[in-house]
Amino acid sequence: MDKDFLWWRDGVIYQIYPRSFADSSGDGLGDLNGITEQLDYIQSLGVDAIWLSPIYPSPDADFGYDVSDYTNIDPRFGTLEDFDRLLQAAHQRGLRIVLDLVLNHTSDQHAWFLESRSDKSNPYHDWYLWRDPAPSGGPPNNWASVFGGSGWEFDPQRKQYYFHMFYKEQPDVNWRNPQVRQAMLNVFRFWLERGVDGFRLDVFNCYFKDAGFRSNPAKTGIRKFDRQEHIYDNDQPEMLPLLEEIRSLLDEYPERYAIGETFLATARKAAQYSAPGRLHAAFNFDFLKYRWKPRFFLNGVQRWEQALHPETWPTYVLNNHDVRRIATRVGKGEDDERLKVAAAFLLTQRGTPFLYYGEEIGMRDIPVRKRSEIKDPVGKRYWPIMVGRDGCRSPMQWNDEAQAGFTSGTPWLPVHENAGQRNVAAQEADPESLLHFYRQLLQIRRNTPALRRGMIITLTNDPRAILGYLRQTTEQTVLVALNFSKRYIPLVLGRELRNADWKVLLSNKGPREAEIENGALPLAPNEACILLRE
Ligand code: GLC
Repeated sequence: MDKDFLWWRDGVIYQIYPRSFADSSGDGLGDLNGITEQLDYIQSLGVDAIWLSPIYPSPDADFGYDVSDYTNIDPRFGTLEDFDRLLQAAHQRGLRIVLDLVLNHTSDQHAWFLESRSDKSNPYHDWYLWRDPAPSGGPPNNWASVFGGSGWEFDPQRKQYYFHMFYKEQPDVNWRNPQVRQAMLNVFRFWLERGVDGFRLDVFNCYFKDAGFRSNPAKTGIRKFDRQEHIYDNDQPEMLPLLEEIRSLLDEYPERYAIGETFLATARKAAQYSAPGRLHAAFNFDFLKYRWKPRFFLNGVQRWEQALHPETWPTYVLNNHDVRRIATRVGKGEDDERLKVAAAFLLTQRGTPFLYYGEEIGMRDIPVRKRSEIKDPVGKRYWPIMVGRDGCRSPMQWNDEAQAGFTSGTPWLPVHENAGQRNVAAQEADPESLLHFYRQLLQIRRNTPALRRGMIITLTNDPRAILGYLRQTTEQTVLVALNFSKRYIPLVLGRELRNADWKVLLSNKGPREAEIENGALPLAPNEACILLRE
């Protein structure tokens, strides 16, 4: 392996939704000790870091994304000592730990907010976005909550409105207040000092709102939130110097990292916030939306590559805790062949891949059939137009035992009914499984400098069916050929490439030759083939 292997650039990051990964206590919720017990499994995948969705004390209005204490662990997940043990055990295995920092808002049960709402003169009175009612008595402006309705909630105690971009139980803090800024930077420091390797910054580009609280201009849309241009409630210019300050703080420690979750993301915005001196990286969510058309994936790569500053390292993601899993989006029943093509796409890109627990075994979303069974407040609110995010948050499927081996108790969300067949143990035993394919891809990526660091050159071909690209360093050329269709199709190669000697590193269709026939590489239906130029 290269001497200059840098974990967040050359490595792969595995996201865990802690309440659904492994329950060591039997209360039906995953916990930190459960994760520690599974570190060998995580290491065996060949990933380099774990991102934990929030583990802080939370009343769970938004399942941990409403934090009531930034420097502690929710007792249902464990203790600070359990966290230290997890961190140490991960580090012993060469795995880094990335925490989720939710600093745009706190829980309404956070001590700061309880103080702040008590009256207008307490020391925390200006820590949140409080405004008097409009002259009519209504909300101060038209800002909306992305989770539904007005973003303003009237507080009878203070006789003022406070702003919440998400639930009313998630009041937005006032980042313009220097004390708030300091308190938040101290949160970074607290975890850095404990040895945490990096952070995923939840909706960071919402931190600042327009100082004059101007209403957003109107546009057409279905939900209230979509009927306005969001120019005054996020992406304010004050964000850039703050990112620089966060970056300098991280740079005081070796090899620390921050990736931003861009709210209302576009490739262009994500690129802007991850330009040199700002965050190390930002998410581009385009690939979470694509239908199974190679054209979209090709355009997505090109758009992302063009938007990024030449020094910024891209990221790629196909799944997370907020969207339907790719297996549900593009998978055909229980067949995993498309998922192998998707995995090969993700793990051969120029950029850090993010995996989401269970992706490696092709977990499907659990069906959400009744409003009364929904846990995610977004689903409760918008049912039946939107069912919310429970589907992609179901318990990890470890084996074919009761509750898929996730818990000895009653799981907080139901286990998928396919868990008897689709689980880690079953896929460990099957050399053709998706799990083995992910492991092989991760290993090839790790051992092939061109796949980690090389530039990408997309090949023009038949983008209705196949995607072909090269990854190239000065020493090495790799050809990636992905057949998205269910037909046999040749990947036509230009003169120079067709005359080269190739060796197949991996194909999901088993061992094969790199024979070029009539200037083209033949591809089987849904074949993903990775070749090395000799
Ligand atoms: C982010 C999280 C999401 C959460 C929201 C509010 O988008 O990914 O799960 O609901 O922020 O914190």
